[in-house]
Parts: sequence; C-alpha cells; structure tokens
Amino acid sequence: MADKKPDPRWAAVDDYAERLLVRPDPALNAAVADSDAAKLPPIAVSPMQGAFIHALARATKPRAILEIGTLGGYSTIWLARALEPGGRLVTLEYERKHADVARKNVDRAGVGDRVEIRVGNAIGLLPSLSGPFDFIFIDADKPSTTEYFQWGVKLGRPGTLIVVDNVVRDGAIADEKTKDEGALGMRRFLDAAGRDRRVTMSVIQTVGAKSYDGFAVAVVV
Ligand code: SAH
Ligand code: DHB
Ligand code: MG
Repeated sequence: MADKKPDPRWAAVDDYAERLLVRPDPALNAAVADSDAAKLPPIAVSPMQGAFIHALARATKPRAILEIGTLGGYSTIWLARALEPGGRLVTLEYERKHADVARKNVDRAGVGDRVEIRVGNAIGLLPSLSGPFDFIFIDADKPSTTEYFQWGVKLGRPGTLIVVDNVVRDGAIADEKTKDEGALGMRRFLDAAGRDRRVTMSVIQTVGAKSYDGFAVAVVV
C-alpha cells in the first residue's frame, strides 16, 4: 500500500482535467504560493478536489457552510464561492499562524466578508456554534473525526451534506492491524457512522495529485 509508488497517470490526469475545467485563478494560485512561503504543510486539497467539494456544496444551495481545518484557506475559498448570496462560512483552525495566512488568502480572493475564521481546538469551539449548516467539510486532526462528525450531524438538518477528507490513506483503513493514528481514527469514525441511522453515506476512493486517498460523503436523512 504505502510502499507502492503513485502511478504517474494519476497526476497527469489531474493536470489534464485542471487545464480543461478550471479557469486561471490568481487568488487560488496566490493562496498556495503564500501558504508555501509561510511553510505551511502542503496538504491542502488538490485543485480537482477543490472543484469537487465546490460542486457538492453548490448542489446544496448553501446559506451556511462549516469547515473544520482551515490551513491556509485553500479549500475555504473553493467552498465560500459556493455560498448563496448573503451566505456565511465558519471555519475552525487550531494554529494561529495558519489562520493568519488563511485570513489574507480569503480576503484577497474577495470572499472575506462571508468567512469567519475561529482559532482554537475545534472540539472546544464546536459547542458554541449554531446551525443549521447546509454543507460541512471535515479536514482537521484525523483521530478526532468521530467527534467532528457527531457535531456535524447535530449542527446539520435533513439534507445536509457532510464530506470528510483523508479517509482512505493509501488503503490503510482496510488494514485491521494498522498502527497509523489517522487510519485508526478513520476506522473508528466509519464504524460509528455505519451504525448511525441519521445518515446515509459512502466512501469514495480517489487517486490524483494527492496520491491514493478518499472522501466519505454523508447526507443527513
Ligand atoms: N482544509 C484545508 C487543509 C486542512 S489541513 C485545505 O484543504 O486547504 C488540517 C488543518 O487542521 C491544519 O491547519 C491543522 O492545524 C488543523 N487542525 C489540527 N488539529 C485541529 C484541531 N484540534 N482543531 C482545529 N484545527 C485543527
Ligand atoms: C494530512 C492531512 C490532510 O488533511 C491531508 O489532506 C493530507 C495529509 C496529514 O496530516 O498528513
Ligand atoms: Mg485533508
């Protein structure tokens, strides 16, 4: 699994599709460049993944979006652009430095008036939020995903879409003996979510610029 090299076709297809489908976007490019310059880890969603969560979010006609895990605001920009006029996005970030980089990136993208960045441990911040949120993107520390998803369901309404990043992790979720803390967190999350009658959901495996991983996509019923 993790020992296998990514197939070069994965990134090639991402590059090809991005050229055809994503118009030149100075704000998104600057967000990546400034995140790199500030030495943030290079773990934002890829352009094609950003366009994917944007499309899913847009389909919910969102007036309120919640994101857990802001980093430099790259996914935040994609999601904020999916908001209906007058809509709001709240994003939670533990690291002050990440939030500062994100604030500049989001403002430069022209969506700053719609985006509230709250700094702190998401577990501590979530109880202070009031929903309902129409779309929720969970992409923070992986061991806490079960708790974030519980909060997501609570802060949603029937029809809310909840997307969780990094559930597959090179296939490690299917390894019962995995010691990877992230994969263990995702196994615990999926075990609980699979027994949760409030949602119906899927795990979609992905390959591409970010190698082999995947999303969980859940809808609150
Ligand atoms: N969604 C971003 C990437 C997020 S990376 C994008 O695709 O562009 C994960 C982020 O979660 C990091 O910035 C990390 O600092 C943050 N994080 C980690 N633990 C957290 C916690 N307990 N509460 C809030 N944010 C956390
Ligand atoms: C990691 C975190 C992410 O959110 C991601 O998309 C990729 C990698 C990480 O912590 O390694
Ligand atoms: Mg991620």
